[in-house]
Amino acid sequence: MTEYAAPAVAVIVVAAGSGARLGAAEPKAFVLLRGRTLLERALGSVFGMIEPAQVIVVAPDSHLSEARVIAASAAGAAASYIDVVVGGPTRADSVNRGLAVLRPGVETVLVHDAARALTPSSLCDAVVAAVRSTGHGIVPGLALVDTIKHVDTEGTIRATVDRSALSAMQTPQGFPRNVLLAAMNAADPAGTPTDDAEIVAAAGHPVGVIPGDPLAFKITTPWDLHRAEAFLDERARTDAAAFGQQADAPSPRIGSGFDVHGYDDAAPLWLAGLFWPGERGLSGHSDGDAAVHAICDALLSAAGLGDVGGVFGVADPRLEGAHGDVFLRETLRRVTAAGFRVGNVTVQIIGNRPKVGPRRLEAEGYLSAIMSAPVSVSATTTDRLGFTGRGEGIAALATALIVPLIPLPETGPVLSWDV
Ligand code: CTP
Ligand code: MG
Repeated sequence: MTEYAAPAVAVIVVAAGSGARLGAAEPKAFVLLRGRTLLERALGSVFGMIEPAQVIVVAPDSHLSEARVIAASAAGAAASYIDVVVGGPTRADSVNRGLAVLRPGVETVLVHDAARALTPSSLCDAVVAAVRSTGHGIVPGLALVDTIKHVDTEGTIRATVDRSALSAMQTPQGFPRNVLLAAMNAADPAGTPTDDAEIVAAAGHPVGVIPGDPLAFKITTPWDLHRAEAFLDERARTDAAAFGQQADAPSPRIGSGFDVHGYDDAAPLWLAGLFWPGERGLSGHSDGDAAVHAICDALLSAAGLGDVGGVFGVADPRLEGAHGDVFLRETLRRVTAAGFRVGNVTVQIIGNRPKVGPRRLEAEGYLSAIMSAPVSVSATTTDRLGFTGRGEGIAALATALIVPLIPLPETGPVLSWDV
C-alpha cells in the first residue's frame, strides 16, 4: 500500500440536503448537471486544489454508496484520503458529522456546499491561504448588486438598507481546526445558522471576508440549474474554439437499438417507463419494457459499449421485475463515463396496443428527465401484418445521438501524493 503524507487541510463537502427548492426526484447533490452530478462537479474543484486535502463527503443515508462511487471517480488518479459519512437533519448537523472524522494533522478545515458545483479550485486555494495568513476564519463574499429593502410581514417596504456594507456569503468557508471545533461545541442547540461563519462569529471569533467568485453561486432553484447549464455549454464552445477543435472536432456518434417482448396476460404493462393500467403486460425477466431496452441498446451501441444483454445480463436477480429507470440510469452513467453526453434519443413503439398517443408527452417528459436530454416517443401499427399486427407482442426501435465531451484544459499542476 502506498503511504501518503498526512494532509494539513480537510474539506467537508456537505451534500446531505434534500434540495426541496430544486424539486428534483433525487437529493440535490445527486442531480445531473450536463451529465455529471452536482456532487461530482463540486468534488472536481476540491480535487483540483493545489494542496492535497482530506476530503469528507457528507451524504444522505439513502445515497451513501452512490456518494462513495462518485468520490472515487472524482478523485481519479489523485490519491487522497476520502471519507463518506451520513449527514444530519440540518446543515449544521451535517457539518458536525463531517468534523467527527477529521484526521490527525489537519490544521485548516474548509466547509463547502456541494450545491456550489461550479466553484473554481482557485477559490478553495485562496481560502486556505487566507486562513493561514490571518490565523482566523475566512469566508468568500460578493458585493450585492441589487438594492436591498427591509419589508415587513404585510409586504410593505420599511427601509432601504445601505448595501455598501453588505456582502453575500459563499463557500468554501475556512477556519483553523480548533476554532471551528470549539465554536461548534459551544453552538446554541436551538439556533438555526445558515452558514459556518455565523456559528464561529457567535462564539466570539473574528471571521474575515475575501473576494468570492460569481461561479461559486449556489444551485438552489431550477433557474440556477439552467444558469449552470448555460455556463457549461458556453465554456465548451469557447474551449472548442480556443483549441481549434471546431474544424476537426470529434464527430457525434449515433447508435440504433431494437427490442421485442411478447404479451403476457398475467403481467402489468410497463412501457416507455410508464405503467399502463388495464393493458396487457409484456413477458421478460425485468418488466419487459421494450421501448426502454431499445433506447439503452441505441445508447450503448453509439458509445461502443456493447448491448443491453451484455451489460445487464438476462438473469441478474437484482433486475427481476426492474423498471426502465434502473436500466436508463446505469446506461447513462456508462455512456457519460465513456466521455459522451447524450444529444437526443428517439424511440418508435410498434404494436396494436396500447394507444401511445394520449400519453406520448408524459412518456417523453419522463424519459427526457432521466436522460437530461430530449427523448421523443412515437408509435405505429403494422397494418395487421407480422407478429405485432397479429397482436403477439410489442417491438421498439430507437436511435440515439451522443456527443464526445470536449476535454477541459489542465488548469494547474497535477500533484500526486506519492512520496
Ligand atoms: N445540507 C446538508 N445537510 C442538511 C441540509 C443541507 O448537508 N441537512 C447541504 C446541502 O446538501 C447543500 C448545502 O448544505 O449542499 C447548502 O444547503 P441548501 O442549498 O439549502 O440545500 P438543501 O437543503 O438540500 O436545499 P433546500 O433548502 O432547497 O431543501
Ligand atoms: Mg436547505
